[in-house]
Amino acid sequence: MNKLKWSPHFETGSEEIDDDHRRLVGLVQDIHEAIEKNDLMLCVGLANKFLGELSDHFDREEALLERVGYPNTEGHKKYHASLLAEARELKRLCSEKDGVEKLGECYAAMVAVLVDDIIRGDSMFKSYLEHSGHRAPRKPKDG
Ligand SMILES: [Fe+2]
Ligand SMILES: [Fe+2]
Repeated sequence: MNKLKWSPHFETGSEEIDDDHRRLVGLVQDIHEAIEKNDLMLCVGLANKFLGELSDHFDREEALLERVGYPNTEGHKKYHASLLAEARELKRLCSEKDGVEKLGECYAAMVAVLVDDIIRGDSMFKSYLEHSGHRAPRKPKDG
């Protein structure tokens, strides 16, 4: 079971998106530690948190793609929906009675879902952001 690490290759050119991706990678690292400690309760709690954060991230990313006029926003939305369905199904499988024995597998599959978005899916709009001159500025924060 390899621990996922943040890599500069993950950067998309949008600080907002990169912050989200960093947080998600951090959560996956916490899940890794919970599995190593055999802390199933913590693991399930973190997996729930991960799913919530992943869903929020997809919403923010889609809003950004609409803002910058990315031509394949609809396609990327469908892609997100399929990743989210996959992640929900994984969580369901991992919460089953014999889930403890499958935690390592479930973890690896969740990492694969996240990396799929960051590396494969989001690399498609990375070049759009670069070449269209959109720097996708960070959204102003309240306060
Ligand atoms: Fe993403
Ligand atoms: Fe994405």
